[in-house]
Amino acid sequence: EELTIIRKFEHIEHCLKRNVQAHVSNGFEDVHFVHMSLPEIDKEEIDLSVEFLGRKFDYPIFIAGMTGGTKGSQLAGKINKTLAKAAQELNIPMGVGSQRAMIRKPETWESYYVRDVAPDVFLVGNLGAPQFSETIKERYGIDEALKAVGTIQADALAIHMNPLQESVQPEGDTQYRGVLNALAELKAEFPYPIIAKETGAGVSMEVAIRLEGIGIDAIDVGGLGGTSWSGVEYYRAKDEMGRNLALKFWDWGIKTAISVAEVRYATDLPIIATGGMRDGITMAKALAMGATFAGVALPLLKPAVKGDVEGVIKILRRYIEEIRNAMFLVGARNVEELRRVPLVITGFTREWLEQRVDLGLYLRSR
Ligand code: FNR
Repeated sequence: EELTIIRKFEHIEHCLKRNVQAHVSNGFEDVHFVHMSLPEIDKEEIDLSVEFLGRKFDYPIFIAGMTGGTKGSQLAGKINKTLAKAAQELNIPMGVGSQRAMIRKPETWESYYVRDVAPDVFLVGNLGAPQFSETIKERYGIDEALKAVGTIQADALAIHMNPLQESVQPEGDTQYRGVLNALAELKAEFPYPIIAKETGAGVSMEVAIRLEGIGIDAIDVGGLGGTSWSGVEYYRAKDEMGRNLALKFWDWGIKTAISVAEVRYATDLPIIATGGMRDGITMAKALAMGATFAGVALPLLKPAVKGDVEGVIKILRRYIEEIRNAMFLVGARNVEELRRVPLVITGFTREWLEQRVDLGLYLRSR
């Protein structure tokens, strides 16, 4: 019976059963710590806490939004509640998936609601950028944004930017005209923080500068190298033309490591480094490069679908221990000190960044 519910949930099904990851890396293999033989700290004293949007969190890991909504909302509710229990236990933030379904069908609100199991968690709602464009029918504004946050008692709202996914799906919302203006207007009246998030193709410094300019509070770079939404759409495509387009753009985008460097270089916004973060060493590199959190989605889906809270926590604790170990080996007592340890950047990531930023300045000021 559970399988039929899953089947209705096409993207979750594809994410669980097929390889939907990018065929290229997220770039962190080009980022190297310099091992320190005399760390001059005790591993025990390492503090992994971070501050973000006025709140303090025990660990620098963010559970990225995945689901909620209409068909199979029982499953969506189970996934969100399972993730929320883990987030509550560890005192880390989490997002829900797109609330578009909830705006259209308010009766699905419960599949996004986690306050009953996670009273203290920093919870982030989620709406899509195209829904704010000036060309779309039934354009969203402050009412929908307030509904998204208010209904689930969230602390902030994420606006997901996903032109890649929309462009390779037949029914995609490829209206993006006027989104920046709409977000500027929303930001001016909206009483909650707004996080602009990509979904697997990365945020460039040009976009980050514009987002900072309109007062957006944080950026989740959602870079290339993890879950590929073009990959997911490849499996959903109904014909050869659709499959071809999705396949061609499977690995389109800005790698996560590169996007973190660009956004850190060009803005002062807090950064969430999401996209292919699969171990704590990689996460420690992202933090050293200037991110406040490493964000994770896909690896947590499998235990979450089963309602396995301990399974979710186990994966996160593994990451946490790996981050702590990396910090010990570079002598960083806390995340702030981690940002000041030397980094060596090689290969493709270096070549890219040399053309885009003053690499020396970035490395000194991250
Ligand atoms: C997502 N992601 C996502 N993002 C968003 O803003 N709104 C959404 O509704 C969803 N839905 C969703 C479903 C599933 C099953 C997955 C795996 C992911 C994107 C997610 O937040 C994240 O940015 C990317 O998946 C990259 O992280 P990983 O998967 O490489 O760790």
